[in-house]
Amino acid sequence: MDLLGVVVTAFWAMLPAYVPNNVAVLAGGGRPIDGGRMLGDRRLLGDGKTWRGTAVGTAAGTALAVGLTAVRPAVSDVVGYSLPAFPLLAGLGLALGAMLGDIGASFLKRRSGRERGAAFPGLDQLDFVVGALTCAVVLAPTWTLTTFTGPVLVVVLVATPLLHVVTNVVAYGLGLKDEPW
Ligand code: CTP
Ligand code: MG
Repeated sequence: MDLLGVVVTAFWAMLPAYVPNNVAVLAGGGRPIDGGRMLGDRRLLGDGKTWRGTAVGTAAGTALAVGLTAVRPAVSDVVGYSLPAFPLLAGLGLALGAMLGDIGASFLKRRSGRERGAAFPGLDQLDFVVGALTCAVVLAPTWTLTTFTGPVLVVVLVATPLLHVVTNVVAYGLGLKDEPW
């Protein structure tokens, strides 16, 4: 596959992981996952990680994977590359993993003294990628290993932080997010 094909495949395969955290920003609120619990003198996670945001984000990413699989033949024709279908467990793994990666990052932010909403450069851009790929490899190992080949993985790791920065600045500009990260 040529470079464009690798880039298109990487973006396509990661879509169910890109969407959940953005949906959580729109759908979040209500009971925090940590129930207000503290670890030492800091919150375990904080009010930014809610059950509703996590559930709706995971459902949205999983549903997107199902939808993408339905339109896959048509999109493959248009772009000229054979894009991968998403088995249900692969879509669920990418979506749930993206949310869990972000939740893990909140845990680390609190442990390192960062308040809710504080930036953690590097972690902010890659937490959900690591979570998504880890969860996908656990729930759908064969699919994950055949889809995320070496070159696809390299493109994901290089392009995702750029895409993340751009989407968050746009969401901030639109007034959807409180901080531009
Ligand atoms: N959100 C949510 N549940 C999640 C993730 C996000 O409800 N699992 C919602 C919350 O309303 C949150 C907003 O999306 O405030 C923005 O998400 P994020 O930037 O990840 O959270 P922060 O508020 O910045 O909190 P933290 O510092 O813990 O990451
Ligand atoms: Mg934040």
